[in-house]
Amino acid sequence: MCGIVGYVGDASRTLDVLLGGLSNLEYRGYDSAGVAVGGDELHVEKRAGELDALEARLSDADVAFEGPVGVGHTRWSTHGPPTDANAHPHTDETGRVAVVHNGIVENYRALRDELEADGVTFGSETDTEVVPHLIARELRRGLDPETAIREAITRLEGSYALVVAVAGVDALFAARRDPPLVLGIGDGEYFVASDVPAFLEHTRDVVYLDDDEFVRLDHGGWTVTGTDGRRVEKDVRTVSWEAEQTGKSGYEHYMLKEIHEQPRSLRQCLSGRVDELGGRVVVDELDGLGTPASVQFVACGTSYHAALYGARLLRAGGIPATAHYAHEYATAPAPVTGEDLVIGLTQSGETADTLRALRKGAGRGAETLALTNVVGSTVTRECDHVIYLRAGPELGVAATKTFTSQLVGVNLLAAHLADGGGGRQRDLVSALRGLPDQVQAILDGSAASAVIEEFADSETFFFLGRGFDYPVALEGALKFKEITYEHAEGFAAGELKHGPLALVTADTPVFAVVTGDDEAARKTIGNVKEVEARDAPVVVVTDGVAEASRYADHVLKVPATDGRLAPLLANVQLQLVAYHMAAGLDRSIDKPRHLAKSVTVE
Ligand code: F6R
Repeated sequence: MCGIVGYVGDASRTLDVLLGGLSNLEYRGYDSAGVAVGGDELHVEKRAGELDALEARLSDADVAFEGPVGVGHTRWSTHGPPTDANAHPHTDETGRVAVVHNGIVENYRALRDELEADGVTFGSETDTEVVPHLIARELRRGLDPETAIREAITRLEGSYALVVAVAGVDALFAARRDPPLVLGIGDGEYFVASDVPAFLEHTRDVVYLDDDEFVRLDHGGWTVTGTDGRRVEKDVRTVSWEAEQTGKSGYEHYMLKEIHEQPRSLRQCLSGRVDELGGRVVVDELDGLGTPASVQFVACGTSYHAALYGARLLRAGGIPATAHYAHEYATAPAPVTGEDLVIGLTQSGETADTLRALRKGAGRGAETLALTNVVGSTVTRECDHVIYLRAGPELGVAATKTFTSQLVGVNLLAAHLADGGGGRQRDLVSALRGLPDQVQAILDGSAASAVIEEFADSETFFFLGRGFDYPVALEGALKFKEITYEHAEGFAAGELKHGPLALVTADTPVFAVVTGDDEAARKTIGNVKEVEARDAPVVVVTDGVAEASRYADHVLKVPATDGRLAPLLANVQLQLVAYHMAAGLDRSIDKPRHLAKSVTVE
């Protein structure tokens, strides 16, 4: 999704701060970029394509991009294709007002008609461009900049994180409804951005904005007001992330770095949450949350796969639980009462679909709980309970370490809600303790890069699993298609014979996840035999407890552990499969085409 960065401070630093910030936000996914810098006059440059294209253009510019105020933007197209003209910032006809925007102005067509009837000429196809024209009209009517911007915002329907610069005013103005905005408070300099990494190298003191708040940043400081113009007191928090955590630390891609960070991210997720001596799980954040009558998980994408796994886990513990795509749930929520719990799984804490689904659940009286990685994100402020994943910043668009932390998080949750301190909890605690080292062992010895070599020319890939292995098969296929751009499908292994088997040939590699030796594992082995009989190359991802390897062309081995956690280990192998295949195909691994890290539109 679009990335925003704004800066007020040292005129000679503005452009560097903006470009550095945009580069740190690249992980959000984008297709064009631009900046506006100035003081008495605003200079604007914007280009379709990657940041390099913008930087090349800036280095040829015949004006100095210097000034105490600047805004920058990376655009992820919603209205109009990625072109220079559609890139942000957008300005009014005189170039006095520059605006960057994340979100969708839903009534832009009516506003555009109204402005065009007033004689305004538009230069782009975007919804955003109505905003600078609306502000310019209010300025022409004689309003001061702050009032003009507030007035213009009252006309907008939909969602927005907006940052506005006005020539001749050494200040930035920002407003939020839905998409995230966060302020960075430096020493005599101030930042506003979609996410903390944009300015983390300059300050760790941050203020998270809430919906319908309005900000003014100038050299004298920062103020936040509500729609009524009244001052809102905000807490300044210090984020614990270090700037190095957002670098690549020698890895070629963030995704590979984040895959390798999993032993540490899992330790952090578990830290203080398991009582090894007592063999119990202790999740302080859940104090006061009793066993609900039923649980409904809402989530999207990778997080939805964690939700499917979590629902199965809770059902295994005796709690009725279901998993729902958040976007589907939002339009047709399942019936809930105050006895039920709606759980949002969202690593970013900002996914618009998931927030909407949670609001639906809360509106019907259910208690809500969020599992998220981002401290201060919108979901943490809206839910009754929050469990943090503590995975550290994840900058690769493809979720990896946050997924494994989600699987651990739902295990902790299930133990708290369902287990009641019995023997199964003791087994879980001991398995959780060994998990980070087992992940490390996979990272040290995985054969994934060698195994995929023979599939370089294949165009369709299937992933199978049953029981707890099913969500991991779906996740394996999603990760694979996201970053390789090859066709990959995940199936419940039992579903194969009901249709997908028709597609299986000698040219369709099948990755089968088989962990443990229960009924599910044994039946999946039957399905493996079926695809083998149709000449498909088979890769089995297994702990070797059942004898799946016997029917495989290749084996990706994971250490044996508790049946609930083995799928997590299998997932690490599948992360490596997707990564090495994409690297071999020279794909844009950290920023897959058309995708965004934080999906803040519905
Ligand atoms: C895939 C991926 C997406 C996200 C989905 C939900 O690698 O990252 O499928 O899982 O957009 O995002 P969150 O978890 O932030 O709600």
